[in-house]
Amino acid sequence: MSGINFFGSEDLEGITEFYLEELNMDLWLDQEYCKILKHGNMILGFCESEKTDEGGTITFFYPTKEEVDEKYERFEDRARGEPSENEKFNIYQFFAEDPEGRILEFQTFLHPLKPYLDGEELLKERRSVRDYKEKEVPDDVLGKIFETCRYAPTSKNSQAYYFIPIEDEETIQFMSERRGRNSSPIREAPMAVAICVDSEGTGRPKQDGDIAAYHFTLTAWLHGLGTCWIAAMDREDVKEELGIPQDHYVATVTPLGYPEEIPKIPERKEAEEFIKKMN
Ligand SMILES: Cc1cc2nc3c(=O)[nH]c(=O)nc-3n(C[C@H](O)[C@H](O)[C@H](O)COP(=O)(O)O)c2cc1C
Repeated sequence: MSGINFFGSEDLEGITEFYLEELNMDLWLDQEYCKILKHGNMILGFCESEKTDEGGTITFFYPTKEEVDEKYERFEDRARGEPSENEKFNIYQFFAEDPEGRILEFQTFLHPLKPYLDGEELLKERRSVRDYKEKEVPDDVLGKIFETCRYAPTSKNSQAYYFIPIEDEETIQFMSERRGRNSSPIREAPMAVAICVDSEGTGRPKQDGDIAAYHFTLTAWLHGLGTCWIAAMDREDVKEELGIPQDHYVATVTPLGYPEEIPKIPERKEAEEFIKKMN
């Protein structure tokens, strides 16, 4: 289910410009008398009205404190005070006002959250994480991730992939040493997960396993958890250590945990550069 919060505005043009330009919202739907704006999973509508609706609080939340601080620098002149931690709600926040007097709140939650990202954010914001908090991954969160991972596509619906959660410290250390610097992120996380395929159960073990691993990566991110694809872990010694038959395929062994910080996005090519015209 999705929804929109509508507000009456006496200055539709001005308020639309503020939310588009200053808060980087997108114009999701232009109904002329109502402008509907989107930011992540927040959808706000402003409609021409003789009376401005000022009630309530419009809260924008971000993954990190740094982003709240960036917003404070940008909106210092509108802010009601500096950002600070609110222990009651375990958040970091500051309040400001929009040009029509509505209360704006900018915050980050200082604890893990249930999934809230929309599809585009998930696909664009997922990062490879190589530095993790010590915090354990709760069993119920892990359970929800595996529940969603049932939906990965597979060749002829073979569903021959499986996951091996690794929490034992020695095994984590062993995995992290397999490929030098490439595999070292494994030891930085409280746990790792091997994503494998029973090659007898599918004609396409590599494709099935790689897709299942990416499905896992995205689902983990949805739950606020980082992963990092570690390549070339389809090895004899890895399989021996994990008790995996040698003919099975190991797509990757990824670290899994709460990111110490959200890495900056490595440079990306422009969309056109990925499209080759047919001769
Ligand atoms: C097939 C594949 C193999 C990768 N192998 C490794 C690896 O061995 N070690 C590592 O730290 N990162 C590895 N990565 C992560 C990439 O470096 C990362 O995806 C890339 O730099 C883009 O960054 P992003 O994932 O944050 O968007 C791998 C990624 C893919 C898709």
